[in-house]
Amino acid sequence: MVILGIETSCDETSAAIVEETGSAAVPWAIRSNVVASQAAIHQEWGGVVPELASRQHIRDICGVVQRAFDEAHATWDDVDAVAVTQGPGLVGSLLVGVAFAKAAAAAAGLPLVAVHHLAGHIESLVLQNGELPLPAVVLVVSGGHTSLYLVPEPGQYELLSRTRDDAAGEAYDKVAKLLGLGYPGGPIVDRFARSGNDRAVKLPTTRLTHADRNAPELKGDLDFSFSGLKTAVARYVRGRLDERRAKASAERPFSDREIGDVCASFQRVVVTALLDRLFDAARRYQAKSIGIAGGVSANSRLRAELAEHGRLREIPSFVPSLALSTDNAAMIAAAGLRKLRAGVTAQLDLNADAALAL
Ligand code: KG4
Ligand code: ZN
Repeated sequence: MVILGIETSCDETSAAIVEETGSAAVPWAIRSNVVASQAAIHQEWGGVVPELASRQHIRDICGVVQRAFDEAHATWDDVDAVAVTQGPGLVGSLLVGVAFAKAAAAAAGLPLVAVHHLAGHIESLVLQNGELPLPAVVLVVSGGHTSLYLVPEPGQYELLSRTRDDAAGEAYDKVAKLLGLGYPGGPIVDRFARSGNDRAVKLPTTRLTHADRNAPELKGDLDFSFSGLKTAVARYVRGRLDERRAKASAERPFSDREIGDVCASFQRVVVTALLDRLFDAARRYQAKSIGIAGGVSANSRLRAELAEHGRLREIPSFVPSLALSTDNAAMIAAAGLRKLRAGVTAQLDLNADAALAL
């Protein structure tokens, strides 16, 4: 089976053609995966502007899908279904993909498959590495989410914990903004952190011990929280600026060295919190493997420490390639193939759902 995947949940318009290989170990092969990023448009505003994002998706979607077919040397006759991200995400952005996928499925007489964005991120691990040893514990960490899932069987995802406030990627983006480094902040903070001293700035870690009133069904002690950390960085930055102002010195508020120190110190706390809970969950659920997916899984320190801890604790660890870690349609196509194989398709009255649960 061959599937067309469509992803428009945030600020990337993406289309991909993915096919089944027939191998149980490595179930899918990517024939094309085209991503049109809107980063340059939103950069100017310091973050994603939802109305600009949805309008740009409308401009880009047809060309991106055409290019996905061209690069795969495929036509509509070669595909067996259309998979699309139904949510969660920005509703205006999601609607463009959902409307396109419904129209395409109806016109080509193909089944439609609705995919949860985070199921896509989880399946990016399988797309990259083949089926994971199960049960697996997977951390999905992006600009909008920081959630831990247990994967007991292929295609089953049980939520173990999530962030109570900011997502880790969101914290990266906010710290970059505070330091005047631009958007998206993750890759820039990651780069500066490499040259900094990760103990230079004292920042707090948060360890939650009790259940969240808003989610009593979760135990809560594996939850994340990054807003206190972000506030501590903001306070530090403000303090330094006040000192400079008092001395009436330098136009440039921070040296590269100081930026490096702040970034490295911040990154150490984030990576430690993420891995701490991930390995805790792996132990608790006797996982046979662990994975990290989503935009923040591109982080160099997170990748290095995951590999290191995995080796020490003798548990196989997996990440997607850099191209598959940020939003892309190949992962949506993969999750779509999984659902299609299980016989789960959507009707043409499918609607986007900005807060879709997994
Ligand atoms: O998965 P993604 O592309 O979109 C969402 O679903 O949110 O993730 C984007 C997020 C942004 O917050 C970006 O700053 C972060 O991933 N990110 C990184 C790195 N590369 C991207 N964060 C830390 N280090 C990186 N190298
Ligand atoms: Zn994402």
